[in-house]
Amino acid sequence: MNAQALGVHEFGYSERDFEQVCDQLYRRAGISLAASKQQMVYSRLARRLRHLALPSFASYLAYLDQHPEEWQPFINALTTNLTAFFREKHHFDQLVALAGEAQRRGRTLRFWSAAASTGEEPYSMAIALHQALGERFGQVQIIASDIDTGVLETARNGVYPLERIDQLDPAIRKRYFLRGTGSNAGFARVIPELRQHVEFRRINLLDADWHMAGGLDAIFCRNVMIYFDKPTQVRLLERQVRLLRPDGLFFAGHSESFVQANHLVKLVSRTVYRPVAGVAV
Ligand SMILES: C[S@@+](CC[C@H](N)C(=O)[O-])C[C@H]1O[C@@H](n2cnc3c(N)ncnc32)[C@H](O)[C@@H]1O
Repeated sequence: MNAQALGVHEFGYSERDFEQVCDQLYRRAGISLAASKQQMVYSRLARRLRHLALPSFASYLAYLDQHPEEWQPFINALTTNLTAFFREKHHFDQLVALAGEAQRRGRTLRFWSAAASTGEEPYSMAIALHQALGERFGQVQIIASDIDTGVLETARNGVYPLERIDQLDPAIRKRYFLRGTGSNAGFARVIPELRQHVEFRRINLLDADWHMAGGLDAIFCRNVMIYFDKPTQVRLLERQVRLLRPDGLFFAGHSESFVQANHLVKLVSRTVYRPVAGVAV
């Protein structure tokens, strides 16, 4: 272990502090941070130290030991929440095709957005499904989860600065968002008709039990596996695939590949997988 100080900072920060932050983040959220992330960790946690009036990272780590309620803000500060409406548009086209087929059989459709961040992903799913299914959208249920309670609060509110939606088709903006006025000017809110069908939950993918019923039509687990090491990724993939219907789909992020996990899934199109026979129930 090296206790060497890392540059000149407002708060005391050593290599050992960085290593301890990395260990804790890996243990609690499965997130592996590269050695190059020292500065990022400093700037993301400095706000917590300032807020708690602590002088150094060593004192913050000691504080965490004494105050378990600080682990959630610690995790919230260190997650990367980048997302956007209709990110990787081709996934939503595929979702609509799947929903159309399932709908013809007249049953409820259940989806899980497993790293939903601030909500753009599950609301994009809801918009695409509403456009495709019309009145039959009533049979859609979307569960959206994340480990970060801060982003979940934003997601639940469904309020976004107009810049977040200005790339969307004007017809979508008009149909699915309400523009704020007065003190809400500059913001838009997802319409209640969609929000009613999206249930937000805090789920840490590392948890032993997700309390998630099986028989899901699709799981979006995009741009989160990249933060986990390979054994963790495969363990999670196996558990998620078992929650799918045999004809369900697993959507991964653009830089995530599971082609080696061919005992679990088969690639059906760009970063979209289907369970291999017998894996899903
Ligand atoms: C980059 S965002 C991806 C958002 C969205 N899926 C997308 O592709 O646009 C990654 C999200 O994964 C969440 N996350 C990280 N570790 C997690 C864990 N162990 N369990 C659940 N969510 C986690 C983060 O809080 C963050 O909101």
